[in-house]
Amino acid sequence: MALHRAKDQHADADDPYTDVFASPLSAHALPKHRMPAEHAPPDVVYELLHNELLLDGNAAQNLATFCTTWTEPYVGRLMSECVDKNMVDKDEYPQTAAIEARCVSIIADLWHAPSSGNGDGGGGGGEGGGVRPRGAVGCSTTGSSEAAMLGGLALKWRWRARRQARGEPVDRPNIVAGPVQVCWEKFARYFDVELRQVPLEPGATGLRAEQVAAYVDENTIGVVAILGVTFTCAYEPVAEIAAALDRIEAERGWDVPIHVDAASGGFVAPFLHPDLVWDFRLDRVASINASGHKYGLAPLGVGWALWRDADALPAELVFQVDYLGGDVPTFALNFSRPGGEVIAQYYAFLRLGRAGYRRVQQACADTARYLATQVRQMGPFTLLYDGEGALPAVSYTLTDPRGAGFSLYDLSDQLRMRGWQVPAYPLPADRHDTVVHRVLIRHGVGRDEIALLADDLRQALRRLATGTPTDAERTGFHH
Ligand SMILES: Cc1ncc(COP(=O)(O)O)c(C=O)c1O
Repeated sequence: MALHRAKDQHADADDPYTDVFASPLSAHALPKHRMPAEHAPPDVVYELLHNELLLDGNAAQNLATFCTTWTEPYVGRLMSECVDKNMVDKDEYPQTAAIEARCVSIIADLWHAPSSGNGDGGGGGGEGGGVRPRGAVGCSTTGSSEAAMLGGLALKWRWRARRQARGEPVDRPNIVAGPVQVCWEKFARYFDVELRQVPLEPGATGLRAEQVAAYVDENTIGVVAILGVTFTCAYEPVAEIAAALDRIEAERGWDVPIHVDAASGGFVAPFLHPDLVWDFRLDRVASINASGHKYGLAPLGVGWALWRDADALPAELVFQVDYLGGDVPTFALNFSRPGGEVIAQYYAFLRLGRAGYRRVQQACADTARYLATQVRQMGPFTLLYDGEGALPAVSYTLTDPRGAGFSLYDLSDQLRMRGWQVPAYPLPADRHDTVVHRVLIRHGVGRDEIALLADDLRQALRRLATGTPTDAERTGFHH
């Protein structure tokens, strides 16, 4: 009998027609700490992993992320066609390299870089590398974090060169910023720069221009202005910050450049707020980063770093890599990386054009304002940002956190029961006692979905207020 069962199991293992969920691998928890001794059928492994990944939840309902969660099927096709192309092998994949350079040109044009844009319908001259020889220079990155590091490094190198030329000490660089995303804290720590974080004033949603003077000195390598503050989604006033730095230069002689962290706003402002002057139109803006994989509408894994001209990017930072027969300029923290994300970015540019981007971002902004109206009507909330004038998003807090009888963390848990991911989190350092909800409206997050979210918010509020199921829920139980 025992012999017979052993034979059966053996037959199952080798039988290509065995049902996936009756296969030997399915009979146990998956190995977690050691590689299995033997191979397994690909369809079984696929199904088991597919099922495990369901526990991640539904990315489309993750309203905390700025990142792309919806793409057209063609994006997936292009990505899989590029799965074997290494972005760094520019000599071997010259067309991918050319497309990266086209994207840099297109973004430079969007951000009004001096002498950028050749007005053509194609790539124009000078293709072939991420870092362009004339006009604005730039490169793709894995996201805004890497792009921010590159921007910060260029600021540090320029500051040091200026001071060394004058025989001044270079041992205490600092960078001034408001409520930054963690990538700037990393930059400061990894590259030995003091981060002078300007506290968020009561009622403010980001750095205010008049705060800057108290933090800047001769050792300031630059000021980071954020177009789309991570915590509140508002734009910081880049032009006013630039004007404050002009005054500081006139009074003290310190020429402090600006790096704009436009992780999200870099692909929103050009379409929804074209008259807002925040980019290379301001002489003081030396460099800008943005995430292609946020409002750039590319899939995860691409960001952009651009400098207004070659002078803003010290030559020592650009490596001329003699790679497999090619001489290629690169500026990056990593080396190998897939090419598909950059191709997908170019796809989005070609597919949507300026008008298409405007429509997509406008639809998101309209939906954000719709949600703001709903949230306002619900009663217990104070809107910190109502979706007007900056990112398509809403952020709010409890008007009376002590008297409400529940916290925003409780509300997040309630929403999670319906699959919504709307996490609660505290504002940075000086406003740590204020807890907020932030809802990002992105490409693919539709009006109906947000109407359903608003209904669920109301239900959750009722449930938290009474602790008992609502009538609608009771009725639902009968189904
Ligand atoms: C203002 C800001 N800067 C930088 C980043 C980091 O971007 P990425 O995730 O593309 O590295 C974010 C991410 O949310 C952000 O909001």
